[in-house]
Formats: sequence, C-alpha cells, structure tokens
Amino acid sequence: PRLHALVPCAGVGLRAQANGPKQYADLEGRPVVMHTLDALLAVPRLARILVVVAPGDGFLPVPDARVEVADCGGVSRAQSVFNGVERLLESGADPADWVLVHDAARCLVAPALVEALIDACIDDPVGGLLALPVADTLKRSVEGRAAETIERSDKWLAQTPQMARLGLLHRALAARAPAFVGVTDEARALEGLGLRPRLVPGSPWNIKLTYPQDFVLARALLRSLA
Ligand code: C5P
Repeated sequence: PRLHALVPCAGVGLRAQANGPKQYADLEGRPVVMHTLDALLAVPRLARILVVVAPGDGFLPVPDARVEVADCGGVSRAQSVFNGVERLLESGADPADWVLVHDAARCLVAPALVEALIDACIDDPVGGLLALPVADTLKRSVEGRAAETIERSDKWLAQTPQMARLGLLHRALAARAPAFVGVTDEARALEGLGLRPRLVPGSPWNIKLTYPQDFVLARALLRSLA
C-alpha cells in the first residue's frame, strides 16, 4: 500500500489573532504551511501530499510535484479531512493505502518523527498517532476551584500526524457526518468504530500554532534548530 499525506489547511485561525488564517502567517520569512510541507517532503515514503484549503483560496504556491492543493475545505477540521479523504479515493487511491493526516499549523514536526510513526504503524491493523504523555498534574474544576485530581499516568496529549487506512478512516468519518460532533482528530473517529489507534511518542517541539505565544515559541525553536 502507498502512503499519502493529507494536510488540513482550511481553518480561519481566530484564536491566533494573526492577520488572516494562522497557517499562512509569516514565520521566519515564509508562510507557516510551507514549513509544514518542507517537513513532509523530507519523508521520501510519502508518495503524495494533498493540502486541503478553503474554497476559493488561491494563496498557496505548490512547491513540489508531490504536492497537490484541493480547495475542498469545510466548516470544521473533520469536514476538511473528510473532503480530502474523498478526494484521494476519487482520484484513484486504494482504500488499503495509508493516509497520514497532519495539521498545517503543526509546522515544526521533525521528518524523523513522521518516519517513527510510519515504522510503528505500518504493520498495525488500525494505525496510530503521535502523542505525548501528560506531564502536569490534572485538575477537574468546579466553579473555578480544584475539586479533584485526575490520574494522569494513562493520559496522553494527541498530536499529528495521525495514520490510518484510507478506507477505514473514510468509514469512520462518514459515520460522524455531517456534524462530526466531538471529532477533533482522526483517532476520535476511529474510536467511534470501537478501534484503538496506537499511541506513538511524539515530541514537545511538535506544537500546534494556536495562540500568539505559540508563534513566539515557534520562531525561537526554528532559530535554535537553524
Ligand atoms: O483550529 P485548529 O487548531 O484545530 O486547526 C487544526 C488544523 O486544521 C489547522 O491546520 C487548520 O488550518 C485546519 N482546519 C481545516 N478546516 C477547518 C478548521 C481547521 O482544515 N474548518
């Protein structure tokens, strides 16, 4: 089976307070998503990278023959991913192929980390995702006060990429359409079918640019890596 990457890049980025969608905000002289694509292009096993942008969004230059842009973004991340999965299947991808869904806004992912995910999942029946064990103490709040301390040893923070069989992910998302309530990642959709995607250790540097302070951190990280 082939490996495809699918990059949801159709968000509006209200929380980032950037001038326009955060995936296009400037990061060291280039749009965020171009850094993301560099990282994915550095993984030779990814045969094809489909970037899902908002309808009518003509912003994105295509940096490589392996990259395609489809303006089939939806109103939610899940809808954008679902539309991208359908696009891949319509254009001849095999349902048994793997797809790695990776947020455009997670631009610091190391190619070696993507390789590690692929190695960990390629022989797995379900697939898996990068994730980080929770390090901080977790509190459940009631009216702004700590009411309870939650066991953290079995809690993980989900990152991307998330790797699944194309046909299986399509079925899992179709079952949640059209509202996709609570489907904040691909693993959630698969869990809905009773499946348990493998948790593969990610990296604290694999941050998702969400708030203005994340851009400060991303700049510092890029400079220290350069
Ligand atoms: O908003 P959030 O941080 O969850 O977005 C994660 C990724 O999903 C971003 O790369 C964003 O562009 C993408 N997205 C999308 N379509 C949406 C909302 C978010 O492709 N409707």
